[in-house]
Amino acid sequence: MTMKVLIETYGCQMNTADSELIMGILTAAGFEPAHALEEANVIILNTCAVREKAEARILGRLTNLVPLKRLRPDLLIGVVGCMAKHLGEKLVEKVPYVDFVAGPDKYRTLPEIIANKRKKAEIHTEFDRSELYTGCTPKRPSGVTAWVTIQRGCNYVCTYCIVPHVRGGERNVPAADILTEVKRLAEMGFSVVTLLGQTVNSYVDGDINFAKLLRMVANVEGIEQVRFTSPHPLGFSDELIEVIATEPHVAKFVHLPLQSASDSQLVAMRRKYTYEEYETIVHKLREKCPEIAISTDIIVGFCGESEEDYQKTRQAIIDNRFAFAFLFAYSERSLSIAARTMKDDIPSEVKQRRLAEIIDIQQHISKEIYESRIGSRVEVIVEGYSRRNSDQAVGNTRDFKTTIFDRGDCEPGDWVEVEVDSATSQTLVGRQIRIIKKGRAPAVENQIDVGISLGPTEN
Ligand code: 5AD
Ligand code: SF4
Repeated sequence: MTMKVLIETYGCQMNTADSELIMGILTAAGFEPAHALEEANVIILNTCAVREKAEARILGRLTNLVPLKRLRPDLLIGVVGCMAKHLGEKLVEKVPYVDFVAGPDKYRTLPEIIANKRKKAEIHTEFDRSELYTGCTPKRPSGVTAWVTIQRGCNYVCTYCIVPHVRGGERNVPAADILTEVKRLAEMGFSVVTLLGQTVNSYVDGDINFAKLLRMVANVEGIEQVRFTSPHPLGFSDELIEVIATEPHVAKFVHLPLQSASDSQLVAMRRKYTYEEYETIVHKLREKCPEIAISTDIIVGFCGESEEDYQKTRQAIIDNRFAFAFLFAYSERSLSIAARTMKDDIPSEVKQRRLAEIIDIQQHISKEIYESRIGSRVEVIVEGYSRRNSDQAVGNTRDFKTTIFDRGDCEPGDWVEVEVDSATSQTLVGRQIRIIKKGRAPAVENQIDVGISLGPTEN
């Protein structure tokens, strides 16, 4: 009997890409994707550990799976990814019916782990510094957009962050392999690729740095848009700014995590830049590429954050006018440097007050920015149809603004011109004016759903 597997993905895009990788590894070994919980023989949760809330949510989900496991004792439940590496054995103590636990470097062995599964839980969380999953082909859902992992792990040591401790040190996929993969994807019909890495701009392979790689990928025949996430402000070079500004197929959008605008907090966080240096990058990007949209990540309530530190961050949010921002209250993570050496001394009410205030400010700014497009015409690459209303198409502008409009004759992969009629703080809504350029047929080779993502991610 073929085993059917379902993967639920939590956390960042890196995990989404890893779920596709895992599905690729498992289907190559004879498993089939399941389309619903009820038909799955194996349920895998691909997890996040970046904040406590993420882990709590996943533990809650595991509890919800108990009745299913009682009903079907042969059902296997596995936990993989960052929380698997973080908790290891402890996870099985907390949730005894988990059958296997595998860290981010152990996906290649999942078919054996599942086949070997006896009474006791299998726990595999060792690091493998050489693991780049060379030769493993991700199973991507059909469509026009594809994730491409170019880097695994992180060499930075931001004190609040658990990522280097669960994903290990930085490793870069050889540029030749990335280009071969992107060409293959383009031939299959994918026209938008997003290059993924924890600190993508530290990418290097011989004399190919990230700026050069980005230019090469943008010039692959059939690739219409290249996006990337996330760069680090350190090493955000003029060469990279030049490539973003001048390559027509590179998205005019940069997600550039700031974290804090107080220099003493940036030192405590070991971010390795000053606020002034961050601002300089933003100014250069806007000068060289006036149409650029910039988004960010912010943490409030990190160890020792004074009211004055916080006010600097609050002001920076106002001054920089980010298109959008992911805003977080500091959550202490065991293993991180801060958890070992600093005091989580900001009361939770203060963290929450600061967070609520900046969420409110940012929402107003985002709304103003999106509403400023009303009445103008934007170019949108069509990425699919609205889940709620299939008469509507969904795509993104060149500066990565999600846009919804009447479907008309357009198809995924086409570039269309849309006149914007209304906007929220996250979407443009408009009318299709014309198809600017027909796309090729989208990739349909993999007509599968890779797991089910549980709505908007917490981070
Ligand atoms: N607490 C809160 N937010 C965090 N992030 C990373 N670690 C923590 C933590 N311990 C945020 C950072 C990072 C984003 C992915 O998550 O802003 O850029
Ligand atoms: Fe975490 Fe810092 Fe690495 Fe980002 S750069 S993953 S915040 S350690």
